[in-house]
Amino acid sequence: MTEKNEKKNKIDRRQFLGLAWLASVVAFTGEALGTLFKFIQPVSDGGFGGMVNAGTLEEFPPGSITLIKEGRFFLSRLDDGSFIALWQRCTHLGCSVPWEEEEDQYHCPCHGSLFDKLGEVTGGPAPRPMDYFPVIIEAGEVFVNTEEAFERKAFDPSQTTHA
Ligand code: FES
Repeated sequence: MTEKNEKKNKIDRRQFLGLAWLASVVAFTGEALGTLFKFIQPVSDGGFGGMVNAGTLEEFPPGSITLIKEGRFFLSRLDDGSFIALWQRCTHLGCSVPWEEEEDQYHCPCHGSLFDKLGEVTGGPAPRPMDYFPVIIEAGEVFVNTEEAFERKAFDPSQTTHA
């Protein structure tokens, strides 16, 4: 191989590495923009940011806690038959909070905040209870209005809706 060919091969490798780098930057940027778009896209009917039909009354027995993914909330039916809808967002720094059935509490995976069934803080750095959305019951169906989440200092029965 001549010196000229070697130099040409080196440039080709450099070009290849440059293109590979550019491709990875483009892929990463595309992924990031896709995620951002999902987050800021206008809300479609029936999804988070609007009125969500969670299901029929019979689907939620007293004592149940159900994640309604499209609305990003947990629908709790309390023992007295009333409903409260809790935003799945941690009030510390905004992580998604899962309901941990074995622990009988919401347990944020980010910094360990704990919330009871009513969304009240029982541990960790969260500064206030989980925010809630209004629940509307109409013709045997449960609707949750996710246009606006309400902050609170503590649980109060006025935050619930009776069937
Ligand atoms: S975001 Fe949940 S504890 Fe920090």
